[in-house]
Amino acid sequence: MQENIERISRPLELAASFMSAMSRVASSVALVTTIDENGQPHGLAATTFLSVSMNPASALICVNRSASASPVIKDSGVFCVVPLQSIHEEISARFIRPDNRDKRFVHSRWRTGPAGLPFIDDASAVFCSVAREVEHGTHTVIIGNVHSVIVPEVQDSLVYMGGRYVRLDAGDVEN
Ligand SMILES: Cc1cc2nc3c(=O)[nH]c(=O)nc-3n(C[C@H](O)[C@H](O)[C@H](O)COP(=O)(O)O)c2cc1C
Repeated sequence: MQENIERISRPLELAASFMSAMSRVASSVALVTTIDENGQPHGLAATTFLSVSMNPASALICVNRSASASPVIKDSGVFCVVPLQSIHEEISARFIRPDNRDKRFVHSRWRTGPAGLPFIDDASAVFCSVAREVEHGTHTVIIGNVHSVIVPEVQDSLVYMGGRYVRLDAGDVEN
């Protein structure tokens, strides 16, 4: 046992083991969108989003500082979390791959919400302003105060596990 603990405590192996352990956790996928000073939308697909508190209503995201949207969220001070459903698999893929940056906001489902923040018309949307930022390692943990929310009828959740999208049983979801 002691041998195992020592073996995985070397930094590179530790990171690989940690990534492997986390890949076994099912996570819901959201888009995080923001807008720059010229009104251009930016965003990323993220599995790190959660509610922090209901009073004040607040949400948390973790953004890699190498992501193209990272400096834009910092500058604009606003972001929108768009939790996805399984029908949004294709749109999610556009936000994961850097070569698709110019195709991210071309879909007809995009709408403009408060503060010019983009959201899609058949998903929930949580509009936030940045309240707190903590840099740790490669990422910035961002807590946002929630200003408005759109809640359409939701069928299911887009879930990622083991390096791929997995389906939730639609019968498990109640609106
Ligand atoms: C399943 C999955 C979850 C991800 N979650 C996050 C996340 O929570 N935070 C983050 O900064 N990037 C996350 N990424 C990476 C981004 O979606 C994206 O690949 C990266 O920001 C590159 O964006 P860019 O081309 O705009 O720089 C995730 C990628 C995948 C495949």
